[in-house]
This record gives sequence, structure tokens and C-alpha cells, in this order.
Amino acid sequence: MNYILMGPPGAGKGTQAKKIVETFRMVHLSTGDMFRKAKKFDEVISKLLATGQLVPDEIVVNMLKKRLEKDDVRKGFLLDGFPRTLNQAQELDKMLKSENIKIDAVFFIDVHFEEAVKRISGRRVCSCGASYHVNFIPSKVAGICDACRSELVQRNDDKENVVKDRLGVYEKQTKPLVDYYDKAGLLVNIDGSKSEDEVFERIARLMGNV
Ligand code: AP5
Repeated sequence: MNYILMGPPGAGKGTQAKKIVETFRMVHLSTGDMFRKAKKFDEVISKLLATGQLVPDEIVVNMLKKRLEKDDVRKGFLLDGFPRTLNQAQELDKMLKSENIKIDAVFFIDVHFEEAVKRISGRRVCSCGASYHVNFIPSKVAGICDACRSELVQRNDDKENVVKDRLGVYEKQTKPLVDYYDKAGLLVNIDGSKSEDEVFERIARLMGNV
């Protein structure tokens, strides 16, 4: 089974994705994670991420195309953060068609603007990939990762001035995809304002049925 997780920045896509891929043994394809790794080597990508702008479609699509050609995706994958523009969605459709792969559902995790800002501004991450929230999902010792004991940091694009720009980019360029996937009969709405566990239970139950 193959799924897409959609939603505004801060909706909880990454948090849910980790639980879903562990539980259902799927491949997690997060374009954001891929770019955060690449930004260490690429100045252009680094600048785009830091200002909350989207990486050009051509770069994202080529990167994902190469990833989808690998054998491991055949056991099932979860796309997180892709597609993000209408053009990316259309390119994905072409890629999937040529590889004879289908998407089973698009889970749209939605939260209000204010909630998204609260979640993003309180997020702290670790280089090992773990993610926390200073109030909602705190680490046991403030500022220290539970898993590997390294120091937690704030993502560059989680600074207040960038967060609003990211949400603006989302509204303009990504939200129209809700309609696109609704028309395709794939959209499933998920109330992202619920607790981490409640959101996961809902998605997991749906994954058993879709
Ligand atoms: P990306 O990494 O995809 O970021 P995003 O979509 O902005 O999403 P976030 O990671 O901010 O939020 P999330 O929904 O994963 O929330 P999380 O689970 O962490 O993209 C980053 C950048 O890469 C983009 O800006 C762009 O530049 C580039 N990029 C990526 N893909 C691209 C593409 N396809 N095309 C072009 N450019 C692309 O949760 C947030 C916080 O809330 C955490 O602290 C968490 O602990 C907490 N939390 C989670 N769930 C709950 C809950 N239920 N209740 C309370 N708190 C919660």
C-alpha cells in the first residue's frame, strides 16, 4: 500500500510518518528530510529552506523519481511533503503510471494557522531525527534528546519570521492539491488538532480499511 501525507507546516506529518512507517513497515519518503541532508552540501537549497521557499519543481521531481526507482519502495511507501505544487502532483501521476504503482489514499492532516504557528515555534529537533515540542511533546530532560542524549536545536526555518512565510507558501501553492486529490477520490480528511495518539489511531484504522 502507498500513501501520501499532506497538510500545512506543523500539522504533524513528520510525527505521524515516523509512527506509521514503524508500525506498517513502509518506506518513509520525506522530501523535507532529503533536502535538510542535501543543504549541508548545497548553498542554493540551504537558502531556499532557510527562507521557507519551495525548492524548484524540476529538482524535487528528479530527486523523487530516482528514489522511486529503488526496489525498497515496492514494499509500500509513505510520501511526506511531496507533492507540494500542482505540477509536482501531475509529475507524480506520470511517474507512478510508468512504474505501475498506485496511491491508495491521501491523508490530509489539517490544523488552524494559530495551532501550526504554536507547534512549529515550539519544535526542537535532534540530529538523530527525533523531534519534540517544548510543551506538547517534551523530552524528559529539557533540551536533550531522549534517544541519543544529544542537544536539541530549533530548525532554521522554524524561526518566527520564516514560519509565516512558509504558511503563506502552503496556502498559495500546496492547498489547491486538496481539491486535486478530492476530485481523484483519494482524499481523507484528518483532524490534526487532536493528540498525537488520537491522530495516529485514526490513520492506522483507515489504513486497515482503504
Ligand atoms: P518539510 O520538512 O516537508 O516541512 P513542512 O511541510 O513545512 O512540515 P514541518 O516539518 O514543518 O511540519 P510537520 O507537519 O512535519 O510537523 P511535525 O510532525 O514536525 O519541508 C521543509 C522545506 O523543504 C520546505 O519549506 C521547502 O523549502 C523544502 N521542500 C520540502 N519538500 C518540498 C517539495 N515537495 N517541493 C519543494 N520544496 C520542498 O510537528 C510539528 C511540531 O508539533 C513538533 O514539535 C511536534 O512534536 C508537534 N506535534 C506533532 N503532532 C502534534 C499533536 N498532535 N499535538 C501537539 N503537538 C504535536
